[in-house]
Amino acid sequence: MRKATDTLYYGGADCFTAAQTNDVHSVLFLVPSEAARISEEYALGRKIPTQRVLVEAPSGLSHTVAASCLAALSILPTPTLIVCASGNRASALAAIAVGQRSGWGAQTTLEWALENRLPFLGTQGLRNWVVSMVEPAPLAAPMETRGLVFRQLFDAGSSTFTYLLGDPISGEAVLIDPVLGKVDRDLGLINELGLHLTMALNTHVHADHVSATSALKLKVPSCKSALAATSGGAADICLEDGDRLAFGGRSLTVIPTPGHTAGCVSFLLDTRKAVFTGDALLVRGCGRTDFQGGSASTLYTSIHTRIFTLPHDCIVFPGHDYNGHTSSTVGEEARLNPRLGVGRSQGDFVGIMAALQLARPVLMDVAVPANLWDGDAERAALVAAGVMEAGRGVPTQCARCNKAVEDGLKEAGVGAASGGAGAL
Ligand SMILES: [Fe+2]
Repeated sequence: MRKATDTLYYGGADCFTAAQTNDVHSVLFLVPSEAARISEEYALGRKIPTQRVLVEAPSGLSHTVAASCLAALSILPTPTLIVCASGNRASALAAIAVGQRSGWGAQTTLEWALENRLPFLGTQGLRNWVVSMVEPAPLAAPMETRGLVFRQLFDAGSSTFTYLLGDPISGEAVLIDPVLGKVDRDLGLINELGLHLTMALNTHVHADHVSATSALKLKVPSCKSALAATSGGAADICLEDGDRLAFGGRSLTVIPTPGHTAGCVSFLLDTRKAVFTGDALLVRGCGRTDFQGGSASTLYTSIHTRIFTLPHDCIVFPGHDYNGHTSSTVGEEARLNPRLGVGRSQGDFVGIMAALQLARPVLMDVAVPANLWDGDAERAALVAAGVMEAGRGVPTQCARCNKAVEDGLKEAGVGAASGGAGAL
């Protein structure tokens, strides 16, 4: 067993016995065949938390696997021992964790690994894995150099940020969280910039404003709306974990971040240099968790496993701000967010959120029913009255999976005659 940092040890399967006599408070096993046996023995013998992640070289050395490992590390009490058969994979993961936590690039991380004689350096595949995780090349270029039209727009009435992202080559553009009442502003800007709107995305079913998605589709019929499948709301495209939403040569990837509502998602830019977090993570704050299937413990897990595991220089663009901020970074929030950052446990966070005692949003009874129907207030009124005909602008089936929207809503527990706030 060797020490990587004060909170991280690593080693091969032979370090297992030594670890039992040392001050290790949790173990992350990376070896599938051995882990089943020794992880159980270890947990039984020491009664300490363990996690297991399947990491098989070379096919398993991916961003997804590394993210799973980092997520496991983020919830284990420290010091943590990372164990694999030889210590190579374990030391590589230790380097990824240290590099990401420190905000280092590839060169600094490899220099640190060399100084500390980490054994993975002798294996090219593991070196490549570490480099790809601490330096997001070939996605490392900043937004401007890869060509991206980007605007952060603001609705003062609801303190909502709407984001416009466009591919300057194809002209295809997307809006994230458009607000009804700002349709002319948004479409006017899109036209001025020579873009055309292909998608209007919502991070969740908003309770504080009506989404502009249906209104936008009336003016741009080829535009598709999108919302998480788990939201219980209607949209042209139902979003799932890992969906890639392309606009020209650029794209956003869907990251589920439930907790503010049960169906919240974040959108990660293809460069991994920007993430649009909706109300899940705000600058030095977060969305409330007391309605729409919200859960403080779920939100804590979402942020720690899906957002704080992104590169620390990734810019966080929130869904709202009430204090004059416009953006932050993953590293900044992991360090400084007073609710979710360093030093705050899941239990702390649950206590903080339970004590907030927030007032009910003024527009909730209007906004939630409308947003369950793609921002279509007319449809919401028809549904509330028990009328089944589809309202204008409301899709009848998902454009991606062809699932009937009515069926999806029923599965999500949103009844045709009761599709209002009460259904959440
Ligand atoms: Fe919200």
